[in-house]
Amino acid sequence: MRKTLFDRLDNIWWERRMGISTRGIVPTDHPDSVHYGTMAYRTIHGILDHLDLRSSDVFVDVGSGKGRVLCCAARRSVRRVVGVELSAELCRQARENADQLRGRRAPITVENILADKYNYADTTVLFLFDPFGAATLRSALERIAEDTRGRDLRITYANPTHDEVFQEQPWLDGGERLSRDRTGWEHDVTFYQGRR
Ligand SMILES: C[S@@+](CC[C@H](N)C(=O)[O-])C[C@H]1O[C@@H](n2cnc3c(N)ncnc32)[C@H](O)[C@@H]1O
Repeated sequence: MRKTLFDRLDNIWWERRMGISTRGIVPTDHPDSVHYGTMAYRTIHGILDHLDLRSSDVFVDVGSGKGRVLCCAARRSVRRVVGVELSAELCRQARENADQLRGRRAPITVENILADKYNYADTTVLFLFDPFGAATLRSALERIAEDTRGRDLRITYANPTHDEVFQEQPWLDGGERLSRDRTGWEHDVTFYQGRR
């Protein structure tokens, strides 16, 4: 999706304001994975407002790249923010961004690990910006279900190319899809909750 001129300028303004550097595209050669690319700040802020985060929340970005979403979430009052990312180099850049971030309210950690190997036990909010294909999504959701079953869990799926995989999951409710025509965000976003 092409960014508008407003978003390009707004992104530069936010990067300077926050003291971080997260722009650009980084290819991946890992099977079933989507390359690094990020969303307009305007869209990220809109999604985080919609989530109505709480001080007890542990926010996890699955496929966290250079850490733009991590840094935006850590400027909110949450317990902690975690990035899960397969690329060691992107993890290094995300940690550097986390160290330089201005206006931080919550700690950030970045884990160099595949999405279906991370332990999600204390996660309460999961964020995915279309990080991988259906097969990996299915296996990551299996892991997430085992780790979080019966507990408070909200999932945000931006640019939801594999909503059908979420809809197969008997342990998830919701599926409210906000279209970008309605929100003005850069992408459609679908919201799910773990069944308690
Ligand atoms: C579209 S980018 C999203 C980046 C970030 N969430 C953001 O919105 O700024 C997808 C990211 O997922 C990572 N990724 C892809 N497959 C993965 C996997 N199986 N486990 C962990 N990370 C993965 C990619 O390396 C890439 O950084």
